[in-house]
Amino acid sequence: MDESRIVAAAVEARGRAYAPYSGFAVGAALLSKGGRVFTGCNVENASYGLTMCAERVALFRAVAEGVREFLAIAVACGEVPCSPCGACRQALYEFAPDLRVIMADGEGRAWNAASLSELLPSAFGPKSVAPS
Ligand code: THU
Repeated sequence: MDESRIVAAAVEARGRAYAPYSGFAVGAALLSKGGRVFTGCNVENASYGLTMCAERVALFRAVAEGVREFLAIAVACGEVPCSPCGACRQALYEFAPDLRVIMADGEGRAWNAASLSELLPSAFGPKSVAPS
């Protein structure tokens, strides 16, 4: 997997962030098993609680396109690499518990990686609600 490719896509998507309230721009790029890349940026709202994170925008775009299997996500934000919020970890876990999460700074100069199951241990997921 070419990590730098999706980091670059996340940085580019970050440039489209709508973040007039926080001033904190985030970009994400989600790589599907089939090699497609779905990007997202955070989209804020005057009714603050309606804000949607970049990662979930990317995920929901992919699912709406019929894609549900993923290999990795790159997230670009801040002066130092930052990691997805808890809500986004949970949303991603639904489809890809073993997702590789690449956390980059806003310019894509530095990044590190972890697996989603490391970032969300003992997760509640689809198996938790399966009938026994
Ligand atoms: N944000 C994301 O887009 N992704 C995250 O994982 C953390 C937070 C956004 C939400 C809000 O627009 C801004 O960053 C500040 O919290």
